[in-house]
Amino acid sequence: MSNTVDNSKRRFLTTAASVVVGGAGAAAVAVPFVSSMLPSAKAQAAGAPVEVDISKLEVGQLMTIEWRGKPVWVYRRSPEVLENLASQDDVLRDPESDVIGQQPDYCKNEGRSIREDLMVLVGICTHLGCSPTYRPELAPEDLGSNWKGGFFCPCHGSKFDLAGRVFKGVPAPINLVVPPYYFQGDSRIIIGEDAQGAA
Ligand code: FES
Repeated sequence: MSNTVDNSKRRFLTTAASVVVGGAGAAAVAVPFVSSMLPSAKAQAAGAPVEVDISKLEVGQLMTIEWRGKPVWVYRRSPEVLENLASQDDVLRDPESDVIGQQPDYCKNEGRSIREDLMVLVGICTHLGCSPTYRPELAPEDLGSNWKGGFFCPCHGSKFDLAGRVFKGVPAPINLVVPPYYFQGDSRIIIGEDAQGAA
């Protein structure tokens, strides 16, 4: 049991899991993704942690799962993306993640993550709650020549980088939320609580 997000209609559908594949100049494509997610759908809705298998998640791919009725993105960053994260502090509103409550303390770093290659974010805009669109392309016409990949909210134009950090001059006031999570080995993430069991 897993999920995808319908960005255009702000609806969160509970259908088959998907991975969104993106690359420079390429349109996002949904491909089947088999993930192991426990416990049951009923327990998940009540807020139980969700176990996610990331063993098939390739560099540049974005996977969407559901946690507490919200879309959560898991994305594998490339070395180029990591380089770009380090080079755009001046266009971000809170590059150091100083706003408390938007991420666990263990994710208060440049990538806002435990492992720098793995991004985990709640995919809900901090303006009025739309689900932003994954836009991995470099310098697309509609987002400008300085765009290095990120998330664009179609509702009112907010922009976030590939760590969920909000750009200056957009309606969203703060960075996207990083949920509590931890790794179980190299290929599993538990989303919804940290390694000490805190939610
Ligand atoms: S809800 Fe995202 S910009 Fe308004």
